[in-house]
Order: sequence, then structure tokens, then C-alpha cells
Amino acid sequence: MKDLRIAVVPGDGIGVEVIAEAVKALQAVADAAGRLVRPTAFDWGAERYLASGVTLPPGALDMLQGGFDAILLGAMGDPRVPDNRHAADILLGMRFRLDLYVNYRPVRLFHEKLCPLKGVTPAQVDFAVFRENTEGLYVMMGGNFKKDTADEVATEIDLNTRKGVERIVRHAFEFARARRRRRVVMADKSNVLVHAHDLWQRVFRAVAAEYQDIEATHLYVDNLALQMVRDPGQFQVVVTSNMFGDIVTDLAAGLQGGLGMAASGNIHPGRLSLFEPVHGSAPRFAGKNVANPMGAILTAGLMLDHLGWTEEARRIEETVRWAVDGDRTTADIGGTLGTREVGDAIASRLRAAGRA
Ligand code: NAD
Ligand code: IPM
Ligand code: MN
Repeated sequence: MKDLRIAVVPGDGIGVEVIAEAVKALQAVADAAGRLVRPTAFDWGAERYLASGVTLPPGALDMLQGGFDAILLGAMGDPRVPDNRHAADILLGMRFRLDLYVNYRPVRLFHEKLCPLKGVTPAQVDFAVFRENTEGLYVMMGGNFKKDTADEVATEIDLNTRKGVERIVRHAFEFARARRRRRVVMADKSNVLVHAHDLWQRVFRAVAAEYQDIEATHLYVDNLALQMVRDPGQFQVVVTSNMFGDIVTDLAAGLQGGLGMAASGNIHPGRLSLFEPVHGSAPRFAGKNVANPMGAILTAGLMLDHLGWTEEARRIEETVRWAVDGDRTTADIGGTLGTREVGDAIASRLRAAGRA
């Protein structure tokens, strides 16, 4: 099978540290299988923006689409860029302009000891959230009137299109069918957002009618948040809007042991897609070798799975599980190791599996 060409964008803060470990894991699992992953690093992020004013360089998207199988990104966010301008251009820019409409965020608990809820087992935390990723409250349409006066007005538009809602809802049902999951939950706030989220209601019902083998249920998003904590075992597949998906997947990350454990893919099926851990740049932790690299390593696994390297993806997941079981972990999930040491343990285990 052909080599994988991966565009690597470490970004800011702990993004740089965790992506180094994810790349190490990729190289190790590829070596063990006699295959090749070819990473190319891009320095897009706050540092470059502050030095040159450049966020996403001109021509970048064509270059990515022409030369790479996938993009692996760390995080964007730096206190020196308070309006997050570079993240909007680089991260949201790629999500929107590559039309990566599926934000796939699997939620899985690897060991009971990582869950903050009493008595919750790994079997009870095993679901996927599909977050709409190209519209909603993220379109940055809005404005200020009489800015910086006592009469200021500020608006932000929640933009929802039939096409946009339908494709993410359909993707959730297709995923459920392919993975033999029996239930899809759609979460919205249609009791208040009577125009925009009524569209979600109507589209969800119409698409669900085409999937009679799958149970389609609805929860208001506030209740979804409660239910995720009260009884996470009831969920298999969740589909929701961009902003709600952002919020509930941080909550869901909590069920897995924290943001350090959560992986995601920004996907347009059949096209160049972008993979990143759910967490941000955690500036307070940056440069201290304390960030948990497992979310980034699991993200690399998701990327391999997406690209058809299913056996290598499975090995990555199994090896993270091994590291969790043996407490080869960072402090956020109870261990005593640093970012690099966790990455080294995982990479050497992946390599050793190749020699066995
Ligand atoms: P954050 O995810 O960076 O950190 C929140 C908290 O989660 C941290 O204080 C830390 O306690 C914990 N945490 C996160 N990642 C961890 C890891 N790998 N290991 C251990 N603990 C971890 O979120 P924030 O503090 O709200 O945002 C910081 C910056 O990151 C902001 O600029 C924000 O906009 C940006 N951000 C970027 C992305 C992205 O690029 N995908 C995602 C979220 C936030
Ligand atoms: C995420 C992040 C981003 C989002 C920010 C950094 C734009 O929080 O990927 O979850 O809100 O989508
Ligand atoms: Mn988020």
C-alpha cells in the first residue's frame, strides 16, 4: 500500500508537544508494519502570525489538496492573540473552505479509573458525537452597531441550511448502520430557536424515516448535557449543531478522563480531511512537558483508520489502552510521567510489536 503523506500543523502551546508524540507513534506503527508515513511540518500559528501577519498562507489549501492524504493539527490559541484571529483563519478556515462538514468525536472510556462518575464502566461510555462543522453559530456573520457606546448592539447569526443539516444527520445514520449501533439521538434547542432548530426537527424526521432499522430520538440539548452525566450508557450516536457539539464534547471528554484523552476528525467523506485532538493549546501548561499526548495519539489513530490503515489504527488504540492500564500516564489522569515519556513508552511498544 502507498506511503501516507501527512501535513502536520502543530500550532500553538501544548499542540506542539502533543503532536510531536503523535508523529512519533505514527512513525513507530508504520515502521513496525514495514510501511511509510511521510510527515511535512507547517509552522502556521500564533508565532508566525505575530511575526509576519500571515495566518493561512495564500495557496495553502490548493497545496494541501494537491500533495497530502490528511492533515494532523495540534491546537490554535495564544493569549497574545486575544481575538483568536489566526485560529479563525487557519482552523475554522480549513473546516469551512475544505468543507469538512463532519466533526466526528468518539467518546470512549479506556478504564474505569479515568471516569469521574461513580461506578461507570468502559462499556457504559462508548458513543460518537457528530457535530455539524461548517455552519450554525460559527459562520461569523453578525456585527456591532454603536460599538463602544452605552447603546451598543451586537449580533451573531445562527445560520442553518437544509443541505448542511441534512448531510450531517444522514452521516450520523450511515455511521450507526455501518457500526451496528441501534439508536441515534439528535439534540437541538427547537423549543426556543423556533426557526433554525425547527429545521433540524423536520430534517431529522425526514432522514430518520429512511432508516427504519435505527431508533431515532430527540433530546433538547440542555437535557442531553444532564443525561450524559446521569446515564452515559444510553448513548450510541449523537448528532447536533456546531456550537452545541463543541460544548457537549468537552463535557463528554470529562467522561473519558478529561480533554487529554479526546480525539476528533474534521471530515468530508472522500476528500482531504483534518484530524486534531479535542483540546486546545492550554497555554498555562505549554513547554512544561506535562500535557497528556494520548488525545493526539488517538487522533493519529483515527486518521489512520480513516485512510484505510485499519490494523495500524487498531494497534495505536490498543497501545494507548496498555499505557493507561499500566499507569504510563501524565498527571491529569493519575500518572507521574511527562508528555515525552508517555509518547516514548507508546512508540517503543508499537515498534516492539513489529519485531515480535
Ligand atoms: P484547553 O483545551 O486548551 O484547556 C482547558 C483545560 O483542559 C486546561 O487548563 C487543562 O486543565 C486541560 N487540558 C487540555 N488539554 C490537555 C492535555 N492535553 N493534557 C492535560 N490537560 C489538558 O482550553 P482553553 O483553556 O479553553 O483554551 C486555550 C486556548 O486554546 C484558547 O486560545 C482556545 O481558543 C484554544 N482552543 C483551541 C482548540 C483547537 O485548536 N482545536 C480547541 C480548544 C481551545
Ligand atoms: C474545538 C475548539 C474550536 C471550536 C475553537 C478553537 C475555534 O474549541 O475544536 O472544539 O470552537 O470549534
Ligand atoms: Mn471546543
